[in-house]
Amino acid sequence: MHESLPEKQTVLVTGAGRRLGFYATTALLKKGYRVIANYRTTSQQLFAWLQDHPEYTSFLIPCQADLQNEFDCILDAVDSYATSLVGCIHSASQFYPASLFDEDSFESLYDIHCRISIRLGKLLYTKTASPTFLIPMIDAQIEGLNQTYQAYRVSKLFLKELIRQLAYTGAPRVRVNGLSPGTILPPLHESRESFSGAQKKELIPRSATVEEFLNALFYLITAESVTGQILHVDGGSHCL
Ligand SMILES: NC(=O)c1ccc[n+]([C@@H]2O[C@H](COP(=O)([O-])OP(=O)(O)OC[C@H]3O[C@@H](n4cnc5c(N)ncnc54)[C@H](OP(=O)(O)O)[C@@H]3O)[C@@H](O)[C@H]2O)c1
Repeated sequence: MHESLPEKQTVLVTGAGRRLGFYATTALLKKGYRVIANYRTTSQQLFAWLQDHPEYTSFLIPCQADLQNEFDCILDAVDSYATSLVGCIHSASQFYPASLFDEDSFESLYDIHCRISIRLGKLLYTKTASPTFLIPMIDAQIEGLNQTYQAYRVSKLFLKELIRQLAYTGAPRVRVNGLSPGTILPPLHESRESFSGAQKKELIPRSATVEEFLNALFYLITAESVTGQILHVDGGSHCL
């Protein structure tokens, strides 16, 4: 059932085709938002869900685009709904092993996590008149030092600082907050054993659930005086 909103408010979700971006998209639809759902290649999870829930078809605007090379497609999609655009959740991400000496990988990771966050912030700032929110996803486990995922971690550390800077630059109209999951879903190319091992290292040794993630997300969407925050949903792992 829809909870009715004052008017059909529109949210842009990147990385909407699978996993956390998918869960954010379907939760927004259920709460009565219209969603511009950006995906690059993977969309099966989203479209399978839509087949089972045809009542949401007219509220989901699919937008297939590579954010790094086809950002204009996002601008075109947003233009049609600019007056009702209330925010953006940037869930698109890349996660693979690379050290800082792998310059091409670092550049690509910086691009998808940081430069695209800046572009999305600018889009909200320039295209909307009323208060909006930008929620980029960070990661709770980025402070450690090891070379395996170094380029990924450093790009997310940059993003953490960018959230503070974008909150300053976008204020008072665009609120910018980071959502920082711990081990909610197992990484696609890691074994269940190493995922369980990671969970045991958290202060609260149980996985944060998708429901907790969504509760945190909707808190950031609706908390109108909150900006420049990082909200960890991670069993306390960012403290370690
Ligand atoms: N899952 C967790 O437990 C967890 C833990 C810590 C942090 N996070 C953070 O939470 C966010 C979502 O995580 P997730 O695990 O759900 O993500 P994910 O499975 O890694 O999915 C990310 C999505 O981003 C898309 N993407 C990558 N580059 C893109 C580009 N250039 N243009 C458009 N889309 C692009 C991918 O598209 P393709 O399908 O085409 O590759 C993929 O569908 C990420 O920022 C991640 O770092 C998640």
